[in-house]
Amino acid sequence: MKVAVLGFGTVGVGVFEMLNNAEGLEQGTVLVRPGKNDKAFKRTTIEEITSDPEIWAVAEVMGGIEPAFSYAKAVMEAGKHFVTSNKALVAAKGIELSKIAYENNVGFLFSAACGGAVPILHNLSIARESDKILSVSGILNGTTNYMLDSMQRLGLEYEDALKDAQRLGYAEADPTADVSGMDALRKIMLACAVSYDMLPTEGLLNEGIENVTAEDVKHFMKKGYTCRLMVKGGRTDNSVYAYVEPVLFREGAPECSVLQNFNMACYEGLNSGRISIMGQGAGRYPTASAVLRDLSGILGGRKYMLRESCKAVKAENDKIKQLYYVRLPERMASLIPSESVDAEKGIARIITKPVSVLEMHSMAAKIRKDGGEVFFAAIGE
Ligand code: HSE
Repeated sequence: MKVAVLGFGTVGVGVFEMLNNAEGLEQGTVLVRPGKNDKAFKRTTIEEITSDPEIWAVAEVMGGIEPAFSYAKAVMEAGKHFVTSNKALVAAKGIELSKIAYENNVGFLFSAACGGAVPILHNLSIARESDKILSVSGILNGTTNYMLDSMQRLGLEYEDALKDAQRLGYAEADPTADVSGMDALRKIMLACAVSYDMLPTEGLLNEGIENVTAEDVKHFMKKGYTCRLMVKGGRTDNSVYAYVEPVLFREGAPECSVLQNFNMACYEGLNSGRISIMGQGAGRYPTASAVLRDLSGILGGRKYMLRESCKAVKAENDKIKQLYYVRLPERMASLIPSESVDAEKGIARIITKPVSVLEMHSMAAKIRKDGGEVFFAAIGE
């Protein structure tokens, strides 16, 4: 079965190469920008792909919402299966794309959009058929994990760690999505949609690692903590909770051994208990392997991850309460309900009383609005 690839960047090249050796699949054509069609297999318009009767499925690995959305629609309306690694696309347009897929009786899978090689969406879509998914969590951004790990183990400064992650092909074209937690947030949105038929599109909270400093990381190490950027999602009575924030883990917690660009995706099933899957969450071949897994899935008859009943909801992030570590200007320390305060040279490091996720994110936003620099991280169990 011939597969066309939209985009020929880091992941596109990997997908095209892997098609050469995949059972039942074959290299088709590749969509590139005009002027880049220097090989016989390259095309520059989507019509050359949608009108090609030999193309059975299309893998989109371009990123961004447009023109990816228009291409996806055209592909599925032309009766071809569609798989994608594009988190931004599925987070923004997943329900619409799913509707188009069902209407045209073609497959629509996106496991490469969450976790790189780690088959978390694939596993959730199967587990939810026979078990109740109580929660989904984990480390789902390879770039920030690589950065936090390099800052801790190699003593790198933030900027140098980011440059290394970009050079290694882990970061998004605009790494703001990685360091702000937005990339990870899109991934937990998708995990909620697959697990609960609810795609949270409002009320979401994401705190990234933009404000962490080499000094903070040294402080965590002195206190026996490792910092990781975590996603959390799960059911509330009427909706879901879904948020991203840094978390400090005590030595010995499994999250501390997730190094470099690795991801660790976890879910808790009512009957299965906690399941954790670790693997490379970013990079050419790890991500391409997930695209190929989806194509093989469709070949085997598993065509959908989202159900027709999936709907957009507002996330509820005011239910979970936890303790946080907060670093902020000493003059603003009284704005945080604290259990303990350590202050030195105008900087306060606080352990809060239990506060809800929504309260903590709102307090940090207020402090920033008033001109204060703040970094916070939940204290892991
Ligand atoms: N920039 C993403 C990451 C790529 O670092 O995880 C994989 O989704």
